[in-house]
Amino acid sequence: MKHHLKLLSLTLISVLFLTCGGSKTEFETSPTSGKTAVANNGMVVTAHPEATKVGMDILKQGGNAVDAMVGVHFALAVVYPSAGNLGGGGFMMYRKNDGELFSLDFREKAPGNAYEDMYLDENGDVIPGESLYGQKASGVPGSVDGMLKAHEKFGSLPLATLIEPSIKLAKKGFRITSKQARNYNYFKDDFIKNNRNPKKVTLIKEGQWEEGDLLVQKDLAETLERIKQNGRSGFYQGKTAELIVAEMNAGNGIITLEDLENYNSAWRTPITGNFRGYKVYSMAPSSSGGIALVQLLKLSEHFPLSEYGSKTAKTVHLMTEMERRVYADRAEHLGDSDFWDVPVKALLDDDYIAERVAQIDPSKATDSGEVRAMELDNIVEGEETTHYSIVDNMGNAISLTTTINSAYGSKVFVEGAGFLMNNEMDDFSAKPGVPNVYGLLGGAANSIQPEKRMLSAMTPTIIEKDGQLFMVVGTPGGSTIITSVYQTILNVIDHGMTMSEAVSEKRVHHQWKPDWISIEKGAFDDAVRAELEAMGHVIKERSSIGRVDAILVRPDGSLEGAADPRGDDWAMGIE
Ligand code: DON
Repeated sequence: MKHHLKLLSLTLISVLFLTCGGSKTEFETSPTSGKTAVANNGMVVTAHPEATKVGMDILKQGGNAVDAMVGVHFALAVVYPSAGNLGGGGFMMYRKNDGELFSLDFREKAPGNAYEDMYLDENGDVIPGESLYGQKASGVPGSVDGMLKAHEKFGSLPLATLIEPSIKLAKKGFRITSKQARNYNYFKDDFIKNNRNPKKVTLIKEGQWEEGDLLVQKDLAETLERIKQNGRSGFYQGKTAELIVAEMNAGNGIITLEDLENYNSAWRTPITGNFRGYKVYSMAPSSSGGIALVQLLKLSEHFPLSEYGSKTAKTVHLMTEMERRVYADRAEHLGDSDFWDVPVKALLDDDYIAERVAQIDPSKATDSGEVRAMELDNIVEGEETTHYSIVDNMGNAISLTTTINSAYGSKVFVEGAGFLMNNEMDDFSAKPGVPNVYGLLGGAANSIQPEKRMLSAMTPTIIEKDGQLFMVVGTPGGSTIITSVYQTILNVIDHGMTMSEAVSEKRVHHQWKPDWISIEKGAFDDAVRAELEAMGHVIKERSSIGRVDAILVRPDGSLEGAADPRGDDWAMGIE
């Protein structure tokens, strides 16, 4: 494992020297910088070295974790446009060093003119692609509101100081990595197809992008400048808002000026749970992440997984059986709690969890067709997303996941404003029984209604041990987000891995329907596969799962930052 990591780091050093533009030392691997970083006085882990550096510089200037979060968020909108965003939304989990927890839901909302059947044709069938591509796929963006609201409450440095580095990166440009070059080339046709004026789209280049090319985004710099000058109204009103609405009207989009003005992010009470003596805090609806994660952990407590080992047939079988039940509940019961009565207590109830455990046969796969969601009578009460983790030198911690949904969202750039709009409307259930792009099912709980938030799987999570900060963790990956966070936690708590080992470890995933286990290549050997197949499991190999960026507080109090080797992700700490 260690050797494997070292090799990866070495490859990355050479790649980043060539591609990241800065001085040779800027993204050099050292004990406090790289895929793994260990430090005592602060840590930032994000999907891109340039964004990590922005966050780190803010911490070094005396900013707190929330300041660094705001800086990183705007920086990712510039240097990681596939998921970093102004035109999307997300979830923030914040633990102050005194142990108080706050979570902010800045998920997009359905526009005021949205309606339940808006993606169905006259026969009631889902119109392929309409919730994924083009202007109509977008919800009302929440990121800017979320960042400014969090900054207003907790920030210590002026907003201008936090946005300025991103303006510079947009105006002067930054050097793209080889992965980005490949990605921009891959999506070129989609960008051309979905934009009126491909010449104005900065991600389209005549010829091919290459590693080390400079990406300059002048319109985006101006949009950021307007936010810096005018705060919220620099985005939700005035020129930026007008450009968004003009973009909507140029296609079949339905977001209005009123929708933008009315957008508001919402403080939520985190979902909490205990797992083997650790306390877990994660995201409440409109994300399903917290409830599903805590269900999985509570189910797992019924089994001695550490004794069974991390990738044995026994453990993978049990995880799969738990996951299929949790995702069945998700499809039936979870949706935006401002619109739907989510039975949180009932879903996390100890007796209900025990009931679910009793349904699991230790040696045989259940057919997902036979797995039902919790009966309402039991109810006691009414690649692309990105995650970053930050801890400052006072011990304040941020876990934040944000997205425009699939890679490059709706593929529509707001002309003149230089940023991509989300295609988050696809996260609603367009029609009961018809899966979304991640194969997820849903029904009334997650149907489209004006101003409702579409159900998310994002799972920004913070864990405490003995009342002290222990882990900050999260990931992108659509439906696999929940199971990737779950496995990363198990890897550390049950299987004794370091943070980096836990993040690098191959992942497996099951989501009830479709009824198969998705695995990363090499997740387990042929013997384990054969054993699982003999129990009745179907196994399918797929491309990489998740990009976990996490921080662990080690027993000596030092911070171990772990950046996922699957991407350009980078960790930096203050010694
Ligand atoms: O909110 C959600 O669950 C999805 N829109 C997340 C999409 C995602 O993670 C794509 N990334 N790889």
